[in-house]
Amino acid sequence: MEKTFNLNTDVKIQLGTFYVEVWGCQMNVYDGGRIKDLLTAAGFTKVDRPKDADVVLLVTCAVRAKAEDKVFNQIAAWRHTGDIDEHTIIALGGCVGTELAEKILELDKSVNIVFGPRTIHRLPQMIGQFSATHEPVVDVTADEIEKFDYLPESGPVGPSAFVTIMEGCSNKCTYCIVPYTRGEEESRRVQDILDECVNHISNGVKEIHLLGQNVNSYHGLNEDGSICNFSSLLYEVAAIPGVERIRFTTSNPMDFTDDIIEAVKNLDVISDQIHVPIQAGSDRILEAMHRRYTAKKYIELTQKLRAARPTVHISSDFIVGFPGETAEDFEETMRVVNEVKFDQSFSFVYSKRPGTPAAELPDDTPKEVKMERLYRLQNRLEELAREYTQAFIGTTQRCLVEGTSRKDENELKSRASSGRIVVFKGPTSLVGQMVDVKITSVVAHTLKGELVNG
Ligand code: SAH
Ligand code: SF4
Ligand code: F3S
Repeated sequence: MEKTFNLNTDVKIQLGTFYVEVWGCQMNVYDGGRIKDLLTAAGFTKVDRPKDADVVLLVTCAVRAKAEDKVFNQIAAWRHTGDIDEHTIIALGGCVGTELAEKILELDKSVNIVFGPRTIHRLPQMIGQFSATHEPVVDVTADEIEKFDYLPESGPVGPSAFVTIMEGCSNKCTYCIVPYTRGEEESRRVQDILDECVNHISNGVKEIHLLGQNVNSYHGLNEDGSICNFSSLLYEVAAIPGVERIRFTTSNPMDFTDDIIEAVKNLDVISDQIHVPIQAGSDRILEAMHRRYTAKKYIELTQKLRAARPTVHISSDFIVGFPGETAEDFEETMRVVNEVKFDQSFSFVYSKRPGTPAAELPDDTPKEVKMERLYRLQNRLEELAREYTQAFIGTTQRCLVEGTSRKDENELKSRASSGRIVVFKGPTSLVGQMVDVKITSVVAHTLKGELVNG
């Protein structure tokens, strides 16, 4: 039977079921959560399998070619297994939504709705329109951020909550598709962000994780029309009663100014884990990437951060094999890695993204050479991370208990300030609480310990 949803009504009725699949970065995870809040408030019921859903929503990532391909492979796989059929309404959104827009309808004819990161709030209308007309609906407009004004309050999310503080990015690093998929950088108003944090705290959240493509350049409006920068926002969020930990992702080294370092020093609630993507260690490559800092500047930043907070754990992102990267350029990256001694970091082989400036550059380094470089880098990063993990043995870590361990229901799973997972035996009544755990052993990068005063 064809599904028809009439959304032009003020009466909340059971409209149907939806399933959301999310790929990509934390900003997509945030959007996926908000889509659930929105559709639930509009009268839909969330289900946990595409098979049970009238509407299947995909929140996608376009950062590398592989991420993009995965989306279309997944739809084909679901069709093959019968998890979706011709009655399922398929709504494809996220960064592939904006990147390919109308083209998606040609690439996969089963897609009915295309939305973007900035149009999630219009999903109920888009679903209603498709149901009424059976004509595909494409709405990926990305000129302003209005979505936050149209999303309902979030319900309980557990002890840690993502809060997006800005959308888009205007940096235009030459390899990166994000500025084209999420639009120009725009900051949310301070009060909106604080209200969202307060709502989360009232729902039991202890940790606020602030999100943006470059949080360090946050410049939102205060109530009086003045501009609030990122360090001031950190003080404001830290001042909310009940906020016990603040994380933020992602920091561009270029905008990591002294006032933000000072905030890291002054605010104990800021976590020890600071993620600052460097991408490459060669100044020549950094310039070609349009990153606007040098390796020396980056190293100085890490020194300042460590002086401000000796317990800080600096993690990073790396791109290996950017067009024109020579063996010497790569050695520069290894040199910086050995000097900074990064903790748990991410590294990727460069992926050509259509429409970005780097896609036009000659790229004659063979794939095998790039893979060898990646392998060397990842081995060294892993070695460093292991040293940090081992060094936790014997220390006491303040941890936020997230739930029970998947492997052993008598064990609780928590997270230390450094981002490490810490498991220990304890009562489930501690879920959602901050506790002290003495670390006794490690398994891979997971820390095992005992509750202090438990
Ligand atoms: N805004 C963040 C990064 C967001 S994208 C920042 O500026 O640091 C997350 C990571 O994906 C980047 O840090 C980069 O390492 C990687 N990435 C982005 N574009 C890529 C590409 N074309 N190929 C390979 N990796 C890429
Ligand atoms: Fe992409 Fe650069 Fe913006 Fe990060 S800062 S999202 S890497 S363009
Ligand atoms: Fe991917 Fe878009 Fe995030 S491209 S990394 S989901 S901003």
